[in-house]
Amino acid sequence: MSLPLPAPAPSSPDTDHGHDDGTVDSVLYVSRACFEGSALAQIDSIRRAAAARNAAMGVSSTLICQSGWFMHWLEGPERAISQVLTRIARDARHRQMRLLYRGRTPRLMPMPWSGAVMESPETPQGFARRVESFRLARQARIPLDPPTLLRQLSTPSGLLPPEAVCGPGTVQRLMVCASQAADATGLVHWLAGQHRRKIGHGRFCGTEPPTLSIRYLDFAAGQTARRLVALPRPGLRLGIVQALLPDYSHLLLLFEGEPLQDRALMEELLASFRPLRRRPALIGLGLSPAQRPALEGLARQAGLEFTGLPLGLPSRGEGSWPALWRTLAPWLMPGSADPASQ
Ligand SMILES: Cc1cc2nc3c(=O)[nH]c(=O)nc-3n(C[C@H](O)[C@H](O)[C@H](O)COP(=O)(O)O)c2cc1C
Repeated sequence: MSLPLPAPAPSSPDTDHGHDDGTVDSVLYVSRACFEGSALAQIDSIRRAAAARNAAMGVSSTLICQSGWFMHWLEGPERAISQVLTRIARDARHRQMRLLYRGRTPRLMPMPWSGAVMESPETPQGFARRVESFRLARQARIPLDPPTLLRQLSTPSGLLPPEAVCGPGTVQRLMVCASQAADATGLVHWLAGQHRRKIGHGRFCGTEPPTLSIRYLDFAAGQTARRLVALPRPGLRLGIVQALLPDYSHLLLLFEGEPLQDRALMEELLASFRPLRRRPALIGLGLSPAQRPALEGLARQAGLEFTGLPLGLPSRGEGSWPALWRTLAPWLMPGSADPASQ
């Protein structure tokens, strides 16, 4: 199997970590998955071969399997990337590798390996048609960087006209993470009922097991398609989440109202946000009034925008999802951190 790789642009000398100007080689390709049995088992077997080897070569990688296709984003020193790609291209577990991006970017992925298997109602043929539209976008020199490509390829919401698919900012991503996982999935379930849409399911994994179960919902909000992802708390440490978080406009944190637990959630979040070049706006719910100033202070020290809204959670018998969502809506507008300042 061969992958038509264009030669990278004339480069500054390649070091162990990347180019002298601090950039690395970045590649995104898609390929048709070609194996018997479960996608999760294949992803796990690839993880076992790839995680340590990528780390040793200074390569970072995020691999997603969806609708019978792989989407793979790799970054690292030019020579290492070429070696890894040559090995991958010989692998019989996939075919029809199609390169959608090769260029120089700042290092964006903090971990050597992470992966996901996403359930999707889209057929392999439907996915192939969208791949073609991204190939055309590349030929037309529409600038789509790897995280944007990965985000758009993995979000076949069916809510947007096909011509809008390649446009920037057409899908707004929101994440919800809770001290108690049931609170985050509770919000997704309520919204799914409101919009009469099916909840999606995926599994994320890092360099080590276990895998984490993810629920998500695609729904429309005016001209924008939105994806809300309910992330279990340990997911904050996964490379795939850290790599894609800069594309999320907002992260909703659902606290317990219990000072020690809430502080621990905030500290975990701040640690996972540290390497990010762009951070989503943070909105906290369920905090006790006494705890709010302390957590706002922690976030401020870390240079983060954090708004603790004085709203309780339905799981604790405080308010209801409809009332909560009505209050939240203006805070969740794309580009909005504080609706009062718009
Ligand atoms: C879609 C896909 C992605 C892969 N990603 C990587 C990777 O990032 N790094 C890696 O070393 N191997 C990766 N592999 C596995 C390699 O193709 C190969 O099986 C593995 O590196 C072992 O190579 P070896 O048999 O030459 O030792 C991937 C395989 C597939 C099918």
